[in-house]
Amino acid sequence: MFGLKSSNPKNASHCLLKDVGVNSINRQHLRLASYAVEFNQIVEDLAKKEATNKDWHRIDALFSRVTRYVQTHFSEEEELMKAHGYPYFDAHKQLHDRFVNDLIKVQSKINNRKIAFKEKFGSMLWDWLINHINEEDYKYREFFREKGLR
Ligand SMILES: [Fe+2]
Ligand SMILES: [Fe+2]
Repeated sequence: MFGLKSSNPKNASHCLLKDVGVNSINRQHLRLASYAVEFNQIVEDLAKKEATNKDWHRIDALFSRVTRYVQTHFSEEEELMKAHGYPYFDAHKQLHDRFVNDLIKVQSKINNRKIAFKEKFGSMLWDWLINHINEEDYKYREFFREKGLR
């Protein structure tokens, strides 16, 4: 396990993400975790009031950063798997594709300014961090390490 401690104490997050064995991938996971923390902050702010235009702009901005970064991360992870002949590539890719499809559904809720998007998006993000990274990604750790990756 390793943690993320932001230099900005307001955003400090200690996220118990597993070390998946490849440094560049670990760093990407931490970045995704910091987005989830940012998202939680937005949800907390919205607990006490209606979303204003400014809030929606903040949501749009964060969501597009998440979407772009998730795509970059998935393609890098998938490229690495393909390059080294990871035997569970297809099943893993299916999980990535499903997540991207779910993001598209959330995007349409956000576009329609449906505040209910936040429950779906929040649970997707945390489920991703806790289940996908710590369970599914963690499965390739030994494989990549045996290939000499660090
Ligand atoms: Fe990952
Ligand atoms: Fe993955």
